[in-house]
Amino acid sequence: EQLKFIRNFSIIAHIDHGKSTLADRIIQFCGGLTERELKEQVLDSMDLERERGITIKAQSVTLDYQAQDGHTYQLNFIDTPGHVDFSYEVSRSLYACEGALLVVDAAQGVEAQSVANCYTAIEQNLEVLPVLNKMDLPQADPDKVAHEIEEIIGLDAHDAIRVSAKSGLNIDLLLERLVRDIPPPQGDREGNLQALIIDSWFDNYQGVVSLVRLFDGTLKKGDKIRMKSTGRDWDVTDIGYFTPKQNSTGILRAGEVGFVIAGIKDIQGAPVGDTITHTKTKDVARLPGFKKVKPQVYAGMFPVSSDDYEDFRDALEKLALNDASLDYVPENSDALGFGFRVGFLGTLHMEIVQERLEREYDIDMLTTAPTVNYELLMDNGELVTISNPSKLPDMANVSEMREPIVRASILVPQEYVGNVISECVNRRGVQLDMQVLGSQMQLVYELPMAEVVMDFFDRLKSISKGYASLDYSFERFEAAKLVRLDILINGERVDALALIIHRDHAHSRGRILVDKMKELIPRQMFDVAVQATIGGHVVARSTVKALRKNVTAKCYGGDTSRKKKLLEKQKAGKKRMKQVGRVEIPQDAFLAVLKMN
Ligand code: GTP
Repeated sequence: EQLKFIRNFSIIAHIDHGKSTLADRIIQFCGGLTERELKEQVLDSMDLERERGITIKAQSVTLDYQAQDGHTYQLNFIDTPGHVDFSYEVSRSLYACEGALLVVDAAQGVEAQSVANCYTAIEQNLEVLPVLNKMDLPQADPDKVAHEIEEIIGLDAHDAIRVSAKSGLNIDLLLERLVRDIPPPQGDREGNLQALIIDSWFDNYQGVVSLVRLFDGTLKKGDKIRMKSTGRDWDVTDIGYFTPKQNSTGILRAGEVGFVIAGIKDIQGAPVGDTITHTKTKDVARLPGFKKVKPQVYAGMFPVSSDDYEDFRDALEKLALNDASLDYVPENSDALGFGFRVGFLGTLHMEIVQERLEREYDIDMLTTAPTVNYELLMDNGELVTISNPSKLPDMANVSEMREPIVRASILVPQEYVGNVISECVNRRGVQLDMQVLGSQMQLVYELPMAEVVMDFFDRLKSISKGYASLDYSFERFEAAKLVRLDILINGERVDALALIIHRDHAHSRGRILVDKMKELIPRQMFDVAVQATIGGHVVARSTVKALRKNVTAKCYGGDTSRKKKLLEKQKAGKKRMKQVGRVEIPQDAFLAVLKMN
């Protein structure tokens, strides 16, 4: 296609505002799919994504659109993940586009995550078109939401397109506006090749497939290419675009978006954000903004049965094939045996990995509470990073301990602002800004990342009837008075339960934690003491009282079906329990720290 007939765009939307539905509609309108194929939402390809309604991997589709001006336009839609854990992927997808549709649910209003992504788009000079979706809903209030878009984002929304992705209302208008207002790409097709990797994934048959945007030059099957990050050379074995089916064309030109396959076996060899050039023009500059994504949150993962260790390792290895941000090293816990310490981008990423391991690989495992990275400045000047509380060295040799601080932006309707402020204060937040934006307030806080990864998002949702939204990014490491809180079960320290905590919170949280554990540890035939200690001093204690014989007798009385049910339940529960000393500790107890508020 000629450059002036190409449009590269992406859709910015908060989770559930209708991005996938709209994308499907656009594909259908352009004839990319039959009605039957459409039933399967195409762009969210992983089952898990569909179930959770979350888009994780960026993907693309190339469509032909017959515009009213009589020309056929090539629309390249690049899908982006909608969650804060994946913001780097979003920024690379946006970089590959000239425009974006900002889709806002007209019955809901603007949410923090889409604001952040929208700013990224504006900073990268994209033309952003506001789109008000779900106009078919009786509670849709497009005028109010348009006003909010202007107040919060500063984007002119007086003629925002009003659509219903569900019914198809005004999709034709939307596409006309898209080709009119989003500028075509620029680029020199005769120039030296410069292509951006938007995403890479591993395919069992084809190896690594990379989604790329060509800025300059032309790339053909058989060409020799170089990856800027690794300096390695490869031969292009297949190239083309998705319609959404994979369509080999043998060539991609500047301005276009499509896939490249070059015999790469490992996604680390073609990382997101990397630049591809021709080997023969190796001095072409790297496109800006490449960074290696680093895990922010760590947790220990242990197979419930030690027989599963090898399977577990294989499963992690397979998952990592498709997830460059997944990091893992073997870990040995006194309490839980052999497992891995796994690094994630955030807690959502962690939950996704956990579910995939259980569902796709059928591994029963225990996960410890998530923790962040801490920096320790040792007396000898050495800087040590730890991501496992139980590995904290003797504090006598540590002159300073530092924790990661994030800058968090929260959007919330005015009536819940009080709740949100107390929650932030409770979590050692420092307020930087507070502003009225339309019918919402924007609060900007600096917060310890440890407090945010715990259960901050869930809490925000519950204290605002689901209306608050959150976006955050890492700022810096900062010295803090931190201590390790140990949990002892019947006098035995359980390493996998240790956590790092601020000294001022240690007593109160220790108290809450042991009480919570008491509820979660099933009663045994003997008393179980649960203690929280700091540096060997007990700060809180509770006891799980022994079962009395007659209680059991009553409970397992005559009713055999009930008895059977209970036994089945116990068996299922057992799967996710671990014997620590004489006591069985269930998965919930390991995550009790997430339920402290
Ligand atoms: P992520 O993939 O998680 O980013 O979510 P999404 O933004 O893609 O949302 P999705 O398209 O999955 O839509 C979320 C929900 O809203 C689904 O139940 C859709 O059926 C519904 N929905 C989407 N568009 C409309 C619309 O125009 N009207 C109505 N009534 N519902 C809609």
